[in-house]
Amino acid sequence: MTEYKNIIVTGGAGFIGSNFVHYVVNNHPEVNITVLDKLTYAGNRANLAGLPEDRVKLVVGDIADAELVNKLVSQADAVVHYAAESHNDNSLIDPSPFIETNIIGTYTLIEACRKYGVRFHHVSTDEVYGDLPLREDLPGHGEGVGEKFTPESRYKPSSPYSSSKASSDLLVRAWVRSFGLKATISNCSNNYGPYQHIEKFIPRQITNILSGIRPKLYGSGKNVRDWIHTNDHSSAVWMILTKGKIGETYLIGADGEKNNKEVLELILELMGQSSEAYDQVKDRPGHDLRYAIDSTKLREELGWKPEFTDFKSGLKHTIDWYTENRSWWEDEKQAVESKYAQNGQ
Ligand code: NAD
Ligand code: DAU
Repeated sequence: MTEYKNIIVTGGAGFIGSNFVHYVVNNHPEVNITVLDKLTYAGNRANLAGLPEDRVKLVVGDIADAELVNKLVSQADAVVHYAAESHNDNSLIDPSPFIETNIIGTYTLIEACRKYGVRFHHVSTDEVYGDLPLREDLPGHGEGVGEKFTPESRYKPSSPYSSSKASSDLLVRAWVRSFGLKATISNCSNNYGPYQHIEKFIPRQITNILSGIRPKLYGSGKNVRDWIHTNDHSSAVWMILTKGKIGETYLIGADGEKNNKEVLELILELMGQSSEAYDQVKDRPGHDLRYAIDSTKLREELGWKPEFTDFKSGLKHTIDWYTENRSWWEDEKQAVESKYAQNGQ
């Protein structure tokens, strides 16, 4: 049983936020949830379909709307903050909504939590730490070589997206120290699974193949991401919310390092395509080389463990989901691809 009976989940109609809402509804029957979501292009009511109406309420609104936020926060026990502009490529085209939502929106929420003494959990990203060198560029390269991000790593964000998330983390840290805000922060690595917007790498390639479009790999494809199934992200956030130490930062990761070429080749194999049936396209400016998470603190101090660590089977399940749920993504496919095409990607 938790002391947090009424929680606000910002961004709860997005990919990861909606997974968390389902996780809490399924595992913690004593908790009621208010989802605060602006329903931007990335938010989708369908992600919350089938949830009990007496336990989950959707409020369509902006986290930067102080009046609305104050009203909701005054009635809550905790806020779990997922809402964000989340895509690096978009931030390189127009950074302004990233500043508004990720920085001003977070500021608005923590001010309200400070005012009403409400517990706050800030969901952030490993990208705040910048990137690590590729293992293959280090002496004695191979498994086990090269450092990983830890909660002590220096902030060194590369893109407008990651710098806006870094800014929001620093605001939360300052509100803890100066105002005693009851907050924790988590920085997670790349999530995958059903319901991820088709602008992102894995669903873009799956839905390309399903649409008869060749997958698109940026640059050399050597860039490494540390993949975690979104179900594991949700269990970690719940554990940090309920057992984490106020003021602490926890890194969430499941030892899932893979380079983009490997991931794409696995998608092609699972979808019965030739391993060469893709296009290499223009690289992302400032493209981070490698992310890798050391989640020892979360595992040893709070006892968290990922469950969905078989990447191939998680990917197969994700491919099946996009194959069986074409109506969830098909209407948007053309617009997403023409935006990429304008950018040479
Ligand atoms: P997403 O883009 O799928 O969803 C974002 C949600 O926030 C959408 O429902 C959108 O409508 C909502 N939103 C955007 N602006 C808003 C505003 N001003 N007010 C209210 N709602 C707003 O994103 P995601 O991939 O689910 O990421 C969720 C969070 O997790 C983000 O904070 C992101 O930085 C973080 N994160 C993501 C990953 C990843 O791999 N996707 C990894 C680590 C951390
Ligand atoms: O690390 C956590 C971050 O992971 C989150 O904070 C972000 O919200 C989330 O979007 C994700 O960021 P990335 O930039 O790593 O994810 P994306 O899916 O955009 O790209 C993953 C990798 O694939 C990256 O190296 C770029 C590459 N890529 C991407 C696309 C869309 C391609 O090669 N081709 C593509 O078409």
